[in-house]
Parts: sequence; C-alpha cells; structure tokens
Amino acid sequence: MLKVKNLSKNFNGLVAVDKVFFEAQGGEIFGLLGPNGAGKTTTIRVIATVLSPSSGTAEVAGFDILKNPVEVRQNLGLLTSEIGLYDRFTARENLRYFGKLYGLTGQSLENRINQLVKILEMEKFADRRAGKFSTGMKQKVAIARSIIHDPKVIIFDEPTAGLDVVASQTVINYMKQAKQEGKLVILSTHDMNHAQQLCDRVAIMHRGKIVALDETQAVFQKTNTENLESAFLKIIGEDEAKAANQEQEVRFLKKADKPKRKFGL
Ligand SMILES: Nc1ncnc2c1ncn2[C@@H]1O[C@H](COP(=O)(O)OP(=O)(O)O)[C@@H](O)[C@H]1O
Ligand SMILES: [Mg+2]
Repeated sequence: MLKVKNLSKNFNGLVAVDKVFFEAQGGEIFGLLGPNGAGKTTTIRVIATVLSPSSGTAEVAGFDILKNPVEVRQNLGLLTSEIGLYDRFTARENLRYFGKLYGLTGQSLENRINQLVKILEMEKFADRRAGKFSTGMKQKVAIARSIIHDPKVIIFDEPTAGLDVVASQTVINYMKQAKQEGKLVILSTHDMNHAQQLCDRVAIMHRGKIVALDETQAVFQKTNTENLESAFLKIIGEDEAKAANQEQEVRFLKKADKPKRKFGL
C-alpha cells in the first residue's frame, strides 16, 4: 500500500531525510517515530506530494508520487498541524466544502459527512461555527476533513498533540477502526505510549535516517528494554554515540594522514 524507496530531501544543504526506505501494508498501523527535527514531517510531506523529493521516490496504493501525483492524493488522507478550517463555516459546512474539492456531491457527500460526524463523535457541535471550537473539536473536524474521500492510506502527523484524554481516545479509536477496515494508517508521534498501544510496526528516525524498523514488541525485546519509550531512548542514545565516535575517527584519520604525505607515501 505504501512503498518508500530511497527517499531523500535536502533543504539548502541540510539533509532532512536521508535515503529512507520502508514498506507498509493495508490493515496495519505503522509508527513513524523520532525526536524533534528527525525528519518525520518532511518524509510525510514528500509522500503526500506537498514537497518534491531531492532523490528517490514513493508509491501510494500503486501510484508513484512523481508520475501520478493526482492519484496519490486521491488515495491518501493527510492530517498535519498546518491544515486549517474556515472559522465562519460550521463543522458540516467545512466538510461539505472539502468534500466537493474531492469531487463528492449530493447524497453520497451528505451520507459521508453524517458517517464521520458519528464516528468522530461530533454530533453536539456539527452545526456550530468552527471559529469558537476547542482544540479537540477542531482536531476532530480536521481529521474528518482529511479522510472525507475515504482514502486507502491515512497519514496522521501528531494527531493527538494538544488534545485532552477524551478527544485523544476518539482519535485512537478511529485509527483502530481504520485498521480493521483494511486501511493503512501511518502514525507520526512523539507519544511513545500511544505508539506502543497502537502500532504493529515502528520505524525510528534520527537525523533523517531510519535507525530501527521492526514489530513494536521486537523493538523493545531486542534492546532488552521493557517498553517502547526506553527502547527509543536507548536507540537514539546509541546512534548519538556512534555519530560522535565517527566524528572522532574522522579527526583521527586526518591526523594520521599527515605524516604519510610528509614522507611522500
Ligand atoms: N521548509 C523547510 N526549510 C528548511 N528546513 C526545513 C524545512 N522543513 C523542515 N526543515 C528542517 O528539516 C529537519 C527535519 O524537520 P521535520 O521533518 O519537521 O522533523 P520532525 O517532523 O521529525 O520534527 C529539521 O532540521 C528542520 O529544521
Ligand atoms: Mg514533525
């Protein structure tokens, strides 16, 4: 359902995403984890055709992001913090507007809106203007908006950030339901409890690279830790140490090079 093939993205010399490679199938929740600045959002934005890759490519539901971007967008629902709503529209009006952008009309659009209002528990505020909504209410509408076209691949970037426990639970339940329906859910989060509870497999990103990729249980069993949070800290810590060592080695080699040149070897 999703194939990411040697994907890289540079911003003026900064390597934000470095040869990222992974595949994920329908019916799974795949976690994209990593500390701030690891490259998660950039990876997601390239997959969603918001940014173009510097090299490599990806396929969404069999469509290449470079060759078939329109089909990619039809098969993909993206939730990121940048997505806004129209404050003067009600929740329903917002959904109607974005549904029409995807070519939905008439009764099938109304049915889909009703379905989403129910699934995401928005009955109480569906006909109120979005301007005065709480963070949790806005996030529910934003989620409904991102999946209005019933995509096969759902990418949620930090979907529970800033939400209270009740609103978080609705979002979590939705992800579980989408998985049951055979959809692929990509969950990018820094909440290790949510990731451990939800993800079948996880990739841990650090400095633009995937430094671990496995079934969630296996990640902490292989690192001899008891939970994903400890495993995460251990993996990131070891990667930091390795990077520091490599820098030292490079410095050491540079020093060792000097006498060679001196003696013309
Ligand atoms: N549009 C941009 N221009 C320049 N640098 C960027 C841009 N977007 C992200 N970056 C940089 O790329 C790196 C990865 O960022 P991001 O993908 O947002 O990480 P994450 O989502 O894991 O926190 C960071 O160093 C960030 O500052
Ligand atoms: Mg991010």
